[in-house]
Amino acid sequence: MKRLDGKRFAGIILNDLARRVEHWRQIKGRVPGLGILRAGDDPAGRMYVENKIKRAEQIGLKVFYRNLSENDEQALVRAVEDFNGHPDIDGFIVQLPLPAGWNTRSILEKIDPAKDADGFHPLNLGRLLTDDFDLMPATPAGISELLRHYKIPVAGKHVVIAGRSRIVGRPLAAVLAGRHPGGNATVTLLHSHTPEPEEYIHRADIFVSAVGIPHRWKAEMFKPGAVAVDVGINTLPGGKITGDIDPQGLEKVLSAYTPVPGGVGPMTVAMLLRNTLYLFEKRVAGKE
Ligand code: GUN
Repeated sequence: MKRLDGKRFAGIILNDLARRVEHWRQIKGRVPGLGILRAGDDPAGRMYVENKIKRAEQIGLKVFYRNLSENDEQALVRAVEDFNGHPDIDGFIVQLPLPAGWNTRSILEKIDPAKDADGFHPLNLGRLLTDDFDLMPATPAGISELLRHYKIPVAGKHVVIAGRSRIVGRPLAAVLAGRHPGGNATVTLLHSHTPEPEEYIHRADIFVSAVGIPHRWKAEMFKPGAVAVDVGINTLPGGKITGDIDPQGLEKVLSAYTPVPGGVGPMTVAMLLRNTLYLFEKRVAGKE
C-alpha cells in the first residue's frame, strides 16, 4: 500500500508559491494579502487558523487576521465588508463552522466573489458545475492534486464520497465528475440518510471520507486494490488526532491511502494559499 504523502507534496507546492510571491515582491513591490476571519474560540478552529497563518507567512504572504466575538454576528458582517474593500487584501476566508445559530449562507454571500479564497461563495460554487470554473475550494483541489501527483487515474473510475458538506463532499463530487482533466469519474455521494453505505463503499475504486466520525470505516469494507482518501480530522479523548478510516489492516487491502495527519490536511492549506496567489495575480493583471 502506497502512502499518499500530502505533507511532502504540499511542501513542494509551498516552495513554488514562495518563489512566485518573491517574484511579485520584486516586480510590483507588493505581496499578496490573505485575510482570515474567525468568530468564537473553539480550539479546533484555532488550530486550523494558526496553521494557515504560519504557512502563509512562511511563503511571504501578508496576513490580516481578525478573531471576533461569538456573540456579535453583525461585527463579522462588518469585517467581511471591510475586507471586501481593503486594498491590500487579495483573498480572504471566513473560518467555518460559525457559532451555532448564525446564518452561514448569508455571511458567505457577502464575500466579494473576486476575493473568495475558499471558493464558498454561491457564484463560485455554482461555477464549479459549469466545467469552466477557475477557483476550486481548497480541500477538493488538494485531493485532486494529490491523486494527480501520485498518478492515480480518476477518469472512468467509480469514486464514492461519504459526506455532502459545502466544504468537501458537494464541491468534490462536481470536480471529480466534471468534464475536464482530473474529472470524468462516476461519482456516488453518500450521506447520513444513505441506508447501508457499505453497499456502495465495497464497489468503490476510490473512496473519500469527510464525515468527521473517528474510525467510521474499516479495512474489510473496501474492495481489494482500492484507494482511500481520509479527510477526517477527529480528536480522540486523549488528544490524539485520527481520521474517519480505521488504519488497522488497511495495508492488506488498499493500493493507496492518505494518512491522518499528513495526508489531505496540508494539501488544503497549500491550495488555499495557491488560490490567494491566483486571486492576487488576477487583480494585478486586471489593473494593467
Ligand atoms: N473549516 C474546515 N475546513 C475549512 C476550510 O477549508 N475553509 C474554511 N473557511 N473553514 C473550514
